[in-house]
Amino acid sequence: MRRQIVIGNWKMNGNTTANQKLLAGLVDAWTGVHQAEVAVCPPYPYLAAAAAQLENSNIGLGAQDLSKNGNGAYTGEISGEMLVDSGCRYVLVGHSERREYHGESSQLVAEKFQVALDHGLIPVLCVGETLEEREDDKTFDVIGKQLLAVVDHCGLPGVAKGIIAYEPVWAIGTGKTATPEMAQDVHSYIREVLGPEGDSMRILYGGSVKPDSAEGLFAKKDIDGALVGGAALNAEDFVAICRAAE
Ligand code: PGA
Repeated sequence: MRRQIVIGNWKMNGNTTANQKLLAGLVDAWTGVHQAEVAVCPPYPYLAAAAAQLENSNIGLGAQDLSKNGNGAYTGEISGEMLVDSGCRYVLVGHSERREYHGESSQLVAEKFQVALDHGLIPVLCVGETLEEREDDKTFDVIGKQLLAVVDHCGLPGVAKGIIAYEPVWAIGTGKTATPEMAQDVHSYIREVLGPEGDSMRILYGGSVKPDSAEGLFAKKDIDGALVGGAALNAEDFVAICRAAE
């Protein structure tokens, strides 16, 4: 049995006041015992405050990225050690916005995945194809390569300690969601690539997930939750998605 998980990726949004309000809304709505696991990934400067606010709640904390390097002379970077020290349990690696705007290669993403594991963090590996790649029928090819880079570097048992998020680039922030069938096809392909180790791994869908699309996605057998961007900034919407995962 794979426990469903919904992770909110706040991206570069929020401020002290707005975050406090959002987290208070989530903590309030998500008390008690739940079948689904829930976590949020605020921007770095707000991690410590979020950790304090989430203490004694059942909402986990994650970061949106980490450095491949350990502490040292790397101006502007944030280490795995710092994330652990700030109360993080999860960290996204290889989000398409990192790959696209910061030129992160699959090799770098694989190194970051390993560094996250080395620090006892749960890496959430994001993979996904662009619209052009989908139209050229290259979806499986692209995703296979993104996955294998991490498998080669970390080994299958290493990869199995993380979480995978399938996020078609054309669905991120565009309001276009992959249909549950389209997502299921890719999720089942990902599980096939991972072999027996993949059976226990959680594979999330991400890309314009909203309360009204969540249920249909979560009903698919290989979809184990969601990585949510825009809708994670609204407590009511995010909680509705979390509830759909139960
Ligand atoms: P979105 O973002 O839900 O706003 O499409 C998802 C993501 O990029 O993780």
